[in-house]
Amino acid sequence: MHYGKLAAVQGVSLRVEPGAVTLVIGVNGAGKSTTLRAIAGLHRPTSGVVTVDGRAITGRPAHDVVRDGVVLVPEGRRIFAPLTVLENLRMGAYTAKREQTAESIREIFELFPILQERRSTPAGLLSGGEQQMLAFGRALAARPKYILLDEPSMGLAPAVFDTILDNIGRMAATGIGILMVEQNAEACLSLAKDVVILAQGKVAHSGAAGALQSEHAFLRTFLGESAFSAAKSERDG
Ligand SMILES: Nc1ncnc2c1ncn2[C@@H]1O[C@H](COP(=O)(O)OP(=O)(O)O)[C@@H](O)[C@H]1O
Ligand SMILES: [Mg+2]
Repeated sequence: MHYGKLAAVQGVSLRVEPGAVTLVIGVNGAGKSTTLRAIAGLHRPTSGVVTVDGRAITGRPAHDVVRDGVVLVPEGRRIFAPLTVLENLRMGAYTAKREQTAESIREIFELFPILQERRSTPAGLLSGGEQQMLAFGRALAARPKYILLDEPSMGLAPAVFDTILDNIGRMAATGIGILMVEQNAEACLSLAKDVVILAQGKVAHSGAAGALQSEHAFLRTFLGESAFSAAKSERDG
């Protein structure tokens, strides 16, 4: 992936399995968002391939990638603040078959009951954690096979992030494959099957997530204190 002449991501290879979480970690500027944007069809890669269940989707426009079963939940959530929770969910269903929308929304409410309670509330009035849940729900409304999550912990208190991790686990448990980007690595390792560490646009390490769980010194080398949620929240105030 290039931005002009800058090679932002080079030679990165990763895979996501149905029902499992692959975690991508790395400091600011490592190329995490660029990688997700390439997969989601928002930025055309210079070379390389993206396949979904064996079918190449490389270079397809973002709305087609959604139809191919891959949905991005971008950094900062980007929910529609003036619209209600239910309206946001319906927006997420725009690529799905109309007759499936009611069923999708029922399933989303089952997974995240708070969204049902808040269905008539303008999304802008939800708490940060609820807005992140709504962003997940809106992604689910497209009935994806795979979901890409860009820094879901961004701007949330550590206590809320525990709930968010629980939500991500629930989505994976329905069989959806999840590719999740985080700086806040330590908290996510228990959820992930595989982990990829990006540094300066390249893979610095990849392997089983479990193997890194107690490797604090190793994580600190690549991520500094941002690998640990308490330090991160203190620093971010
Ligand atoms: N729109 C853009 N134009 C030019 N350079 C960009 C753009 N977006 C990101 N970059 C650069 O690409 C590199 C990777 O950025 P990014 O993928 O956003 O990293 P991360 O998500 O890991 O913080 C950085 O050097 C960043 O400055
Ligand atoms: Mg980013």
